[in-house]
Amino acid sequence: MLFLQLPLLLALLPGGNSVDGFQEPISFQIMWSFLFYNRSWVQNAGSGWLGELQTHGWDSSSDTIIYRWPWSKGNLSNEQLMELQNFFRMNLIAFVQGHHDHASQWQLEYPFEVQVAGGCELHVGEASVGFIQVAYQGSESLSFQNNSWVPAPEGGRRAQQVSSLLNYYEVAREETCNMLSDTCPCFLLGLLDAGKADLQRQVRPEAWLSPGPDPGPGRLMLGCHVSGFYPKPIWVVWMRGEQEQQGAQRSDVLPNADGTWYLRSSLDVEASEASGLSCRVRHSSLGGQDIILYWDPQSSVGWIVLAVIVPLVLLIALAFWLRKRWTHCELLSGLIPLE
Ligand SMILES: *[C@@H]1O[C@H](CO)[C@@H](O)[C@H](O)[C@H]1NC(C)=O
Repeated sequence: MLFLQLPLLLALLPGGNSVDGFQEPISFQIMWSFLFYNRSWVQNAGSGWLGELQTHGWDSSSDTIIYRWPWSKGNLSNEQLMELQNFFRMNLIAFVQGHHDHASQWQLEYPFEVQVAGGCELHVGEASVGFIQVAYQGSESLSFQNNSWVPAPEGGRRAQQVSSLLNYYEVAREETCNMLSDTCPCFLLGLLDAGKADLQRQVRPEAWLSPGPDPGPGRLMLGCHVSGFYPKPIWVVWMRGEQEQQGAQRSDVLPNADGTWYLRSSLDVEASEASGLSCRVRHSSLGGQDIILYWDPQSSVGWIVLAVIVPLVLLIALAFWLRKRWTHCELLSGLIPLE
């Protein structure tokens, strides 16, 4: 398994175990997926994640770690990182070979996919929690809990066989346990420390209003868009005066390409009640000064006017242009005798 035997990640804590200034809980995990096409063809992809931020990749053509950020090495030396890379190389080979070797015993049918996710989660004032989960063909197969491998109920006989095989190697199991409970949280704290400037940055959101899809006669869908903010937690509500309006639909918080976030809050209202409503945005980057945008009934009329006028103007322009061309052609044909 990927996480067996990793005594090399003996990173030192950067002063205490506080995770000040970070959203909790915060986790570091490694994900790996393997697509076994047949006995001679296996594709794998690996990545490392600090919370929802990808910090590491794996270049499977050269079997090397990809560092996504200047601080992705955390507090590890280059030598430790080389050892780590070798550890992954060796375990990848063993993992793939182990599956081929046990294919008939475990009734693995090519093509199949195996996914592994493992790491640790930190809560302030509590011991860190380590985890490893393994899925076969997209459903949970086994997990590592309290120093041993546990088959998932949906994993059936296969999961039981794999678990008992893995549990048989006691030393490896203890090392896995140490890695999850010591090494991983140390590396995580090292990352948080090294990446502080990026991870604790504050980016102010842009906000704007626009009408959403027509909800039906006599009604309006008001959309409040908030984009480009970091970190992720944000508060967006529709208000009338000081009163929060119920029934707003909040979209998922979606990632922008630059690592910032986007959110939309939509409110379905009687058209006559739209004016006087405002969208209020509160975010840590705004220093207590909420963004407040008032719904302007003109703005929706404005959109409709624009939607009618623009095509109309284009049509008229086209008509003029065609007329001109036509006259031009007539002139030409008048000049050239076509006999
Ligand atoms: C294994 O699968 C790959 C990809 O589908 C294919 O190109 C290759 O021919 C297969 N090899 C064998 C031995 O079946």
